[in-house]
Amino acid sequence: MSNPLRLGVAGLGTVGTGVVKIVQRHGDLLASRCGRPVEITAVSARSRSKDRGVDLSTYAWEDDPMALAARDDVDVFVELMGGENGPALDAATKALQDGRHVVSANKAMLARHGQKLALAAEKSGVSLRFEAAVAGGIPVVKALTEGLAGNQITRVMGVMNGTCNYILTEMERTGRAYGDVLTEAQQLGYAEADPTFDVGGFDAAQKLALLAATAFGSQVDYDGLDIEGIDRVNLADIEHASELGYRIKLLGVANNSSDGVDARMKPCLVPENSAIGKLEGVTNMIVIEGDSIGQVVLSGPGAGEGPTASAVLGDITDIARGLNIPAFGVPADRLKPAKRAAASPKAAYYLRFLLTDAPGALARVATVLGEGGISIDRMRQVQHAGPQAPVLIVTHDTVRSTLDKVLQVIADLDVCLAPPVAIRIEDV
Ligand code: NAP
Ligand code: HSE
Repeated sequence: MSNPLRLGVAGLGTVGTGVVKIVQRHGDLLASRCGRPVEITAVSARSRSKDRGVDLSTYAWEDDPMALAARDDVDVFVELMGGENGPALDAATKALQDGRHVVSANKAMLARHGQKLALAAEKSGVSLRFEAAVAGGIPVVKALTEGLAGNQITRVMGVMNGTCNYILTEMERTGRAYGDVLTEAQQLGYAEADPTFDVGGFDAAQKLALLAATAFGSQVDYDGLDIEGIDRVNLADIEHASELGYRIKLLGVANNSSDGVDARMKPCLVPENSAIGKLEGVTNMIVIEGDSIGQVVLSGPGAGEGPTASAVLGDITDIARGLNIPAFGVPADRLKPAKRAAASPKAAYYLRFLLTDAPGALARVATVLGEGGISIDRMRQVQHAGPQAPVLIVTHDTVRSTLDKVLQVIADLDVCLAPPVAIRIEDV
């Protein structure tokens, strides 16, 4: 058998210990699949004394990930520390410049510095791989860069943050409060070290930026994304959406047209009987549309120790087999400059108003919508009690900027008692 592939694992948290466990458990399986042994030679984390529930005694220890990235007995620097800049970026850059492959689960770093790192990898003739950074265990980067390479990809979309999907589905299922369910998601190891990255939509947006670049062969454009998290989604909207036959999901959509790329990560309503509508818990789902294939739907666990480590090992296996695929499917110096579309396609919207329960209040709202060219598809009044009347409206397809102007006029009416809520209904 050939020489072993030697790993240096930086970061021994949820994902890092998962990787150590797989390498220890599946040594023979990996060796037979790769045609050579896959071994860990050295590891790094902040605290050497922490009990991580795995035997690290046969590995060299480095306090400094930079030292790990520079070791002669490391062929692949496996970056599982996290962080957009700092030690992760410095050590990954060093490893690539010195001619070591890099496998990373770090979407924050890749969404900002992915192209620069890919260029460094190509200059040194080594691989940069990041399957685990997008949708946890789902092999979506591999699907885009290999299996679907013969397609012009027109749209990628999906649910890409397990923590948010877990929170939304648990809130709907149990009626529990947002904060309570978020704490549980943290305890289960799904959430980022700072869960604001999850609930603010940033983690999922980083994944969408990586997916869009890989799907469309364009430079990573995280700043071009329209981002809104789930922290303002309330239980009432989850319940009302359900009464109307919809579920609320934090949905990422990247649409590629002649106008450019329209990419957004926002809470959306989707039909409850659609594949995305039925998605429960920490499960992620990615939908890819290509000119030859039509639609492909991939789903699976998007976070957690085993699934994320599984994706890391997929990349390591490719490297052990001698495969060197460009990180974004196209050599980094040939990625197209990102071109942003001027506006999102038209869509229907779910609107919620809190109105004075008095004659003519609803008529005034309907009049303003009509005068603004917004057509009503469905309407109902809910939980009618006391002097206030919550009203739900589903519109026909409309342009968001037009809707925003109309909602501002309605917000200023004396019959409107709270800022109107508007959530896009996505065609999935
Ligand atoms: P984690 O549990 O917080 O673990 C981070 C590890 O990195 C810890 O072992 C920590 O050391 C180590 N570390 C942090 N800063 C370091 C430094 N300056 N020098 C050396 N070691 C350092 O994080 P995680 O959940 O495993 O996530 C790791 C990466 O995978 C992140 O980029 C994350 O976004 C990504 N990811 C995570 C998941 C998931 O489900 N958790 C899924 C997909 C992608 P100590 O243990 O000593 O503190
Ligand atoms: N915090 C992320 C999630 C981990 O909940 O999906 C996977 O990237």
